[in-house]
Amino acid sequence: MRILVVGSGGREHALAWKLAQSSKVTKLYAAPGNAGIAGLAECAAIDASEVRRLAEFAERQKIDLTVVGPELPLTLGIVDEFERRGMGIFGPSQAASAIEGSKVFSKRLMKKQNIPTGFFQTFYREEDAKRYIQDVGTPIVVKADGLAGGKGSLVCRTLAEALDAVKMIMEEKIFGDAGERVVIEEYLVGEEASFLAFTDGKTVLPMPSSQDHKPAYDNDQGPNTGGMGAYSPAPVVTEEVQRKAMEQIMIPAVKGMDAEGKRYKGVLYVGLMIKDGEPKALEFNARFGDPEAQCLLVRMRSDLILILEAAIDERLHEVKIEWQEEAAVCIVMASGGYPGRFEKGKIIQGVEAASKLKGVFIFHAGTALRDGKLVTAGGRVLGVTALGKGIKEAIERAYEAVKLISWEGVHYRTDIGKKALMRME
Ligand code: AMP
Ligand code: GLY
Repeated sequence: MRILVVGSGGREHALAWKLAQSSKVTKLYAAPGNAGIAGLAECAAIDASEVRRLAEFAERQKIDLTVVGPELPLTLGIVDEFERRGMGIFGPSQAASAIEGSKVFSKRLMKKQNIPTGFFQTFYREEDAKRYIQDVGTPIVVKADGLAGGKGSLVCRTLAEALDAVKMIMEEKIFGDAGERVVIEEYLVGEEASFLAFTDGKTVLPMPSSQDHKPAYDNDQGPNTGGMGAYSPAPVVTEEVQRKAMEQIMIPAVKGMDAEGKRYKGVLYVGLMIKDGEPKALEFNARFGDPEAQCLLVRMRSDLILILEAAIDERLHEVKIEWQEEAAVCIVMASGGYPGRFEKGKIIQGVEAASKLKGVFIFHAGTALRDGKLVTAGGRVLGVTALGKGIKEAIERAYEAVKLISWEGVHYRTDIGKKALMRME
């Protein structure tokens, strides 16, 4: 089979790495890819948002199956475009991607299906949103309705912050059209975890739990990022929590989407907030998480292609996914300054030595080759991932690899996985 991976991050490198191991794959392409992906796949310089060009490329290259990493092409209708042309593609349709693309849609779905989540209200007018905040008080979360590159949720501790958040989103339009509507949502407390599943619209096949680390600095300090590290499994997701997440959240969501005429096929990701063993839904994503995917894919034993094909053909009920017992940890190495301003083009050293360590996989995100040298080309640069007999060994192995890698201004968190260790003590 000829496969195309769409995207250029660590998640897409992990997807390409996993797909390359399938005996069914004869040729791998990526668009646009990165320097790491280029070692496994032929990269085409087409941005992930250029849906039409991607479809034309896939037609020309006779691609059998396209796997989409990021959310933007999904919400732009890449799956519909490929299906119209009779080409195989894995992911939700444009209509179904609204589960991530519109917070208003997603919260309404949760409410209709009685999915446990915080209370919320939707607003079209700034004054109404502000009046509501004054009534309910803080802490409160203000969210732009549309996609905002993962930055659209503002957790506000004071009234002034919350009113300012509404102003920034609705009046100053810092997230553009994504801020036409806002959701004002209850601030939930607890521990967060990521819970992902494959679904064909009927069957829901859960993956092991994982946990992301969104804040930029140690001890969850600093601004939110795309994710500074992850581990899997997440001990906060006990068997009981997993059962509740499936019965109360995932299955009702998939059924609800079907009932709305938006059958959901692909990876469904719910961000959970867990308190006293009760999971609540914070948000849905229409794809793999990054960097959760890096951990999940190194733990997956089964052939990913067989799962994706079964999901497309609506026969996931026939599939059983095998996973490694071993735990996985991914440490994101980022450019100094990320998620704010950062410089690119710094020479990266030590990747080859680090990748030789036992159980270690180096997934590239913002990397490029310049004059034959590996250089930084984005905010998140590498996802240093390791398997180990338990979380502790995986953490040790991953940090051992991280210590071998360097560039000017490199930044990473030194406490990835600490929460898991604390729970297990
Ligand atoms: P999101 O953009 O919805 O992924 O949210 C980004 C981050 O904001 C989440 O990972 C949480 O840490 C935080 N967050 C979002 N919604 C809430 C909420 N209702 N209560 C508490 N924290 C939240
Ligand atoms: N790691 C969070 C996300 O992919 O949305």
